Amino acid sequence: MAQTHTLPPLPYGYDALEPIISKQIMELHHQKHHQTYINNLNAALSAQASATQTNDVPTLISLQQKIKFNGGGHINHSLFWKNLTPPGTPGNELGGAAPALREAINSRWGSQDAFTKAFNTELLGIQGSGWGWLISKGGPKGRLEITTTKDQDPVASGDVPIFGVDMWEHAYYLQYLNNKAGYIEGIWKIINWAEAEKRYTAGVENLLKL
Ligand SMILES: [Fe+2]
Repeated sequence: MAQTHTLPPLPYGYDALEPIISKQIMELHHQKHHQTYINNLNAALSAQASATQTNDVPTLISLQQKIKFNGGGHINHSLFWKNLTPPGTPGNELGGAAPALREAINSRWGSQDAFTKAFNTELLGIQGSGWGWLISKGGPKGRLEITTTKDQDPVASGDVPIFGVDMWEHAYYLQYLNNKAGYIEGIWKIINWAEAEKRYTAGVENLLKL
């Protein structure tokens, strides 16, 4: 029987990202939304294992989208919790916590401000549900790019997700309502630049532990 996926604990308390992200949002987002992706992924993988045993190709084909959506949801949220950190912690500072990444950002966009503006524009341009990402193309220390993915699509295999911003309404609506720009402005105060530096220089290990 296939090993099942479980909800990874948050690396901080549910209220630790306040006032940027409320305890209520964090509890729902982690315990309900992320948990549901995991439950649905486990169910789809189990059905896939059965269908593989009976060589049931039509069922295998029909499961692909479920695995992509829920597996992507599990990967993206697992990355997201770790790429945030409570406001006012040392990891918040791009300068001190991420020297190599800061240099790469400055060389690519000219300044941190220019990078932030470009990233914000991408986030605000997402239509419907999706994610905005800073990625390193092809592996660690690659060319930096800002990209977006639709729904729960993960970053393309081979590229390193340095950090991502969840732009689904469930990530901010209870607190920010339709003020997407206010949510985005807040996110910059809780980005975990120490984690971002680690991903930029060394990549991401074990996106999903099986
Ligand atoms: Fe989410």
